[in-house]
Amino acid sequence: MPLPFKHLTSTKQLSREDTDSILEVCEKMEKVRSKGGSNLLEGKILANLFYEPSTRTNLSFATAMHRLEGKVITAVGMQFSSMYKGETIEDTMNVVGQYADIIAMRHPEKGSADIAASACPVPFINAGDGPNQHPTQGLLDILTIKKERGKLDGIHLTAVGDLKFGRTIHSVSFLLGLYDNVKFTLVSPKELPMPEKVTSFFKEKGIEYNETENLEDGLNADVIYMTRVQEERFENKDDFERLKLKYILKPEHVKDRDITVMHPLPRIGEIDTRVDELPNAAYFREVNNGVTLRMALLAMLLDKA
Ligand code: CP
Repeated sequence: MPLPFKHLTSTKQLSREDTDSILEVCEKMEKVRSKGGSNLLEGKILANLFYEPSTRTNLSFATAMHRLEGKVITAVGMQFSSMYKGETIEDTMNVVGQYADIIAMRHPEKGSADIAASACPVPFINAGDGPNQHPTQGLLDILTIKKERGKLDGIHLTAVGDLKFGRTIHSVSFLLGLYDNVKFTLVSPKELPMPEKVTSFFKEKGIEYNETENLEDGLNADVIYMTRVQEERFENKDDFERLKLKYILKPEHVKDRDITVMHPLPRIGEIDTRVDELPNAAYFREVNNGVTLRMALLAMLLDKA
């Protein structure tokens, strides 16, 4: 089941048909995982280039490749790469594309993924470009919503926290917005609102949304998607300290409600650890879905699904 593009840099490039195909391949990959894996990507090499910190994305791409018997080469940390010496992103892609069959890259600059894809001789996946996009997280989020709630049409999602710099909420908003009768409640401090690129998409598509500073206004939803306030994007650290724990989700907010709690992780205190014990807490299941989604995407972009 091939995708109609070679590179994945943004969830904005995906149609509903594309996301439905990816979710269908995810179902196949869950069966593959239940048997421990397969040799679908034997002989293929993934280059994992991480110029910004990561635990989940880096390791789940590697896990996905290993489960399909592919191999992984890795470069971690800008200071240990030749970009530190001034090599351009384009030259880096032309070089790494001689070694690997597919490249995943995380980079601190918005737009770096599009630059990389424009020069990349092999399929390229954006693993996060600054505050802009994180398409594989968005995809694993809609996989999680579908598994937890049994549907994507009609979902009411409340997004909480740093909606300005939180690239994952941008990515999942564009994806969920492809489905019918979805609705968003956007809870953020006034300093960290959802960017216009997302709200103008909601307006174009006629998607209902409302913005508020009160967490309690967002509890009557199907999904509450908590986000971390992104310290690394703040110029003024006092602003970060003031805002970082403005919203803390506690058991009393969700324990008697039919609401699924999601978070792309890492968290820095915005979900009380006591929530972890509740059946609503889906964020560690969400992590697990990341492996399935990346297995599906790697196989599709390598024309093996
Ligand atoms: N969710 C996510 O992108 O986590 P990492 O930063 O650990 O990859």
